[in-house]
Amino acid sequence: MKQRISLTLLFALSAILAATSVSAEEGGHPEIVRQPWSFSGFTGQFDTAQLQRGFQVYKDVCSNCHGLKRVAFRNLVQRGGPEFPEAAVKDLAKAWPNQITDGPNDEGKMFERPALLSDPIRGPYHNDQEARAAQNGALPPDLSLIARARNVERNPSWWIHPFLMLGDIAEAYQEGGADYIYALLNGFSDPPDGFKLVDGKFYNKVFPGHQISMPPPLTDGVVQYQDGTPSTVENYSRDVVAFLSWAADPSLDTRKQIGWQVILYLIVTTVLLYLGKKRIWASIKH
Ligand code: HEC
Repeated sequence: MKQRISLTLLFALSAILAATSVSAEEGGHPEIVRQPWSFSGFTGQFDTAQLQRGFQVYKDVCSNCHGLKRVAFRNLVQRGGPEFPEAAVKDLAKAWPNQITDGPNDEGKMFERPALLSDPIRGPYHNDQEARAAQNGALPPDLSLIARARNVERNPSWWIHPFLMLGDIAEAYQEGGADYIYALLNGFSDPPDGFKLVDGKFYNKVFPGHQISMPPPLTDGVVQYQDGTPSTVENYSRDVVAFLSWAADPSLDTRKQIGWQVILYLIVTTVLLYLGKKRIWASIKH
């Protein structure tokens, strides 16, 4: 009993520390505020309408520079994702600007054809060199896994780290990448006085080094939402980040559902085993 109480206390302390120390500015790292994602925590799930809006932001803005090559058009139809109607996605694939190189045909030549449902969502460039040539030497990374490839950096004193980790476990916190990208998209501004910005770079308070080659991609009103959600940079970035989080982890919804079912099953099994054990040992002296 005593042990259980101290364990609970440890978790509570860790959760408080985790919550307070991320909001404090540490070691020159700017504050990255944790956002209230629909898919966070032990039970959170993706919001289909938000994923649809997020894809629209990706298509209208980000796809001008970034690819999404580990997501196929058919994934936009599947359950747990944006769940667009299949016919609409077929048309979207057909009209996608960067076509698929296929072949060779009967004359031995490679040819370009419109994308099918089974094809990946390509960015505007055929290869990294073409991308760099167009982007002033910088490479816009493929966004398929970016929400998992980035995280929030925290540099507290070494002894706080274990508590932060326990706090994250207690909260089931996994949205570091989402919080970072959200902060990145909202982190553009004029450089502070005395900051020397390299030509062709933009000041961003959360990007490591604060100089990024991506021009601020979002401005209020740049995407027209159909469902009445206000057209603000904040909403665009929240929605596109939710979409990118889905792209990087498309089975999150099912995984969490199955997780709970498994735990329920284990609880029932534990009760049954306990009752069985009591019964078997009832007539035996011990
Ligand atoms: C005009 C082209 C362009 C557009 C439009 C654009 N990006 Fe970028 N993006 C870039 C380039 C170039 C880089 C590489 C920056 C660097 O390495 O300095 C980049 C980098 C990134 C990164 C990686 C940052 C890091 O930590 O390494 C993310 C995330 C990102 N973009 C997200 C987006 C999202 C989301 C959108 C749409 C809302 C978008 N970008 C629109 C050009 C663009």
